[in-house]
Amino acid sequence: MKLKVLVTPGDGIGSEVINEAVGVLKDVMAAGGHTLELDFKRIGGVAIVADGTPLPADTLAAALESDAVFLGAVGGNEFEALSPDKRPEAGLLGLRAALGGFANLRPTFAFKETVVNSPLRPEIIDGTDILFVRELLGGLYYGQPRGWDRAKGEAFNTMYYKRDEVARVARVAFKLAQKRRKKLTSVDKANVLEVSQMWRATVIEVSAEFPDVTLEHQYVDAMSMHLMNRPRDFDVVVTENTFGDILSDESGVITGSLGMLPSATIGGKINLYEPIHGSAPNSAGKNSANPMATILTAAMLLRHTAGLDQEAAVIEKAVRRVLELGFRTRDLVRHGAEGYTVLSTSDMGAKVRETVKTLLVSA
Ligand code: IPM
Ligand code: MN
Repeated sequence: MKLKVLVTPGDGIGSEVINEAVGVLKDVMAAGGHTLELDFKRIGGVAIVADGTPLPADTLAAALESDAVFLGAVGGNEFEALSPDKRPEAGLLGLRAALGGFANLRPTFAFKETVVNSPLRPEIIDGTDILFVRELLGGLYYGQPRGWDRAKGEAFNTMYYKRDEVARVARVAFKLAQKRRKKLTSVDKANVLEVSQMWRATVIEVSAEFPDVTLEHQYVDAMSMHLMNRPRDFDVVVTENTFGDILSDESGVITGSLGMLPSATIGGKINLYEPIHGSAPNSAGKNSANPMATILTAAMLLRHTAGLDQEAAVIEKAVRRVLELGFRTRDLVRHGAEGYTVLSTSDMGAKVRETVKTLLVSA
């Protein structure tokens, strides 16, 4: 098969982690006799500096001609004073809107090897396997009106959803639940927000199409606590944009680090693949960031865009094998480095590639 991927490394640690993941992607495609066509373009802060805009026209054009877009991260301390529409993040939000993917899949899988790297007790988190489905094109991120009237001392954003936008993401979540443990948790704030009341009513309506899936509702504040107390109780979790952003970072505590969490955005013209972590400006250029989230994101790309399920599974297995052998990046040893070998970003990437190759030969 032939796969055309646009790579947008972005800012900070973005290029460091994406290099390692692209290396894995290249190896897997070559081993299977597939053709991988790669193009690299700027987005975010690096594009603001070089092109004067966070989403240059040639980046957007290349994205729309690709089979998938693979993004590192965007953002940087030097852009803090800019208004949201001019910041690096605006480049990513523009790209998301243009590609059209509305269902952002964020699996939180607690590898049994990393449960001790979490501040939570292993017996609480071991076995956690949650799939967050974060609505990605609506809510506060895109709702109008928005603004900051400095003279008046007023600022406002709008949490806006159309019923159909809720229904389509709910359908994706129900379908995914059917293939998993058949439980769906819908997260909202229906005790306070009208948007959430419509969200809940719509999810209930859609649930009639999926009688085999058990549906429950949680308020987002309670959910943030349940996630820490009993993460194993959740299977698929569907929620709106901002709640999904917050809960998915929180779930980084379960995996021991945000550096373990991949994502895939589906449902639009072209799928977008990005780790859920940010550009970590303070770690940039140090060759210390964890590339595993991005490597696991490459596996999602192979699964969801290329249909190469076995190859995706090989990457996931390689990540697990490397963890089993005691290799860790710095982020994973905050609670004690004893017994582990701490690797740089590039050494961790090399370790995973080497393991992928071994597994491909034995497969
Ligand atoms: C994420 C990030 C982005 C978001 C930022 C960088 C715009 O935090 O992917 O979770 O808020 O969606
Ligand atoms: Mn986020």
